Amino acid sequence: MAEITKQDVLLALSKVANPDGDKDLVSSGLVSAIHIDGKNVSFKVAIRSAALHAKKRMQEACEFALTRTVGRDLNVDCQIEVIKDQKEIQNPTNDKLPNIKNFVAIASGKGGVGKSTMTANLAVALAKKGYKVGLVDADIYGPSIPLMFDVQHEKPVSREVNGKQMIVPIESYGVKLLSIGFFADINQAIIWRGAMATKALQQMIFDADWGDLDYLLIDLPPGTGDIHLTLVQALPLTGAVIVSTPQNVALADARKGVNMFKLDSINVPVLGIIENMSWFTPEELPENKYYIFGKEGAKDLAEQLDVPLLGQIPLVQSVRESGDVGRPAVLQGDTPVAKALKETADKLVDQIEWRNQNLDPTKKVEVQYDKAACSS
Ligand SMILES: Nc1ncnc2c1ncn2[C@@H]1O[C@H](COP(=O)(O)OP(=O)(O)O)[C@@H](O)[C@H]1O
Ligand SMILES: [Mg+2]
Repeated sequence: MAEITKQDVLLALSKVANPDGDKDLVSSGLVSAIHIDGKNVSFKVAIRSAALHAKKRMQEACEFALTRTVGRDLNVDCQIEVIKDQKEIQNPTNDKLPNIKNFVAIASGKGGVGKSTMTANLAVALAKKGYKVGLVDADIYGPSIPLMFDVQHEKPVSREVNGKQMIVPIESYGVKLLSIGFFADINQAIIWRGAMATKALQQMIFDADWGDLDYLLIDLPPGTGDIHLTLVQALPLTGAVIVSTPQNVALADARKGVNMFKLDSINVPVLGIIENMSWFTPEELPENKYYIFGKEGAKDLAEQLDVPLLGQIPLVQSVRESGDVGRPAVLQGDTPVAKALKETADKLVDQIEWRNQNLDPTKKVEVQYDKAACSS
C-alpha cells in the first residue's frame, strides 16, 4: 500500500457528516491533529454532544470511513473533543473585532493588474458615500497604499485603549489606513517573510484602534500564499473581490484566486470580479475604446465561474497619474472613469448586503492542514 498522506485522511473524513450541521467534518473545520505513522492514524474530532453514545458513534463513523477509503488494515485512533463554547461555533465569527461589520479581501492572481488602485478607489468611494471605512495594506511585496493616499512619510503612533497599546491608523480622504509600508523605511528594501509578515498583518488588524467600521478592506499580495491563509484563519471574511485584467495570463491566475476562496475548507464567498484596464481610452477621445489586453476576458471569467462582475474600469492615463500623486481617481468628479469606479463601489455594497442576508457568516479556517489543501 502506498504511504498514507494527510490528504487521504482528510478525503476519507470528508465523507463523514457533521452531526451538528449540514456539511461534513472536514469542511466544518472539526478535524485536527492528524498524525500518521505507517498504518497508525490518529486525529481529533470536535463534536458538541458530550454524550457517550455520540462520541462512540462518531468514532465508529470515522473508523469506517477511513478503513473503507484508505485501507482495511489501518489502526485508527480517533479522539473525541467536546466543544465547550457552543456560542463560538454557532456564531464563530467576529468575536475579536465586533465594531467592524464587514471584512473584504481584495485579491488578484497576478501582480500589477491594479489591485491596489482598485482598493484605494473603492475605499474612497465608500467613504464619500458616508460609510466608515478602513484599509489594511497587506501587500508584503509592494505596499503601495501609502503612496496612493499621499501619506508615505507618515508614521502611525500608538495610544492606550482600555489598558492596551493600540496602533492609530493614519487617515486620508476619510479612510483609516494601515500599511505594512508604514513600518519599514521607504528607501530600505525590507523583505517581509513568513512569520514576520503574518505577525505584522495580525497586529495591523487586531492591535489597531479602528473604532466603528462598516468596511475594512484588505489589499492582499498577488497570488495565493501564506498571507491569504493567515487572513482566513484570523478573520471571518465577509468575502473576497478579485481584480483581473482581460489578459489571458492574468485570467488564469484570477481563476486560481477565485478557486482558492471557494475551496470547501476555506469557503469565503467571492463577492465579484473587477475587470481593470478593460480598454484604453485616450482622455481627449472618451468614446474611443481600444481593447489592448483583449476584450471582456474577466467578464467572461466571471460568467464561467458564476460570480458577479462588479465593474469594468478603463485604462486611462489619469488613473495612473492620480495614483502616483496620491489622489485616487474617483475624486475626479464626473469623468467616465470616476463614474465607473463609483458604480463598482455601489455594486460591491449591493453584493455585500445580498451576501449578509442570504449566506451564513463565514467561519474562520481553524486548522493548519489547509496549506496542504491549497497546494494540491
Ligand atoms: N485603470 C487604470 N488606468 C491606468 N493605470 C492604471 C489603472 N489601474 C492601475 N493602473 C496603474 O498600473 C500600475 C499598477 O497598479 P497597482 O494598483 O499598483 O497594481 P497591483 O496592486 O495589482 O500590483 C500603477 O502604476 C497604477 O497607477
Ligand atoms: Mg499593489
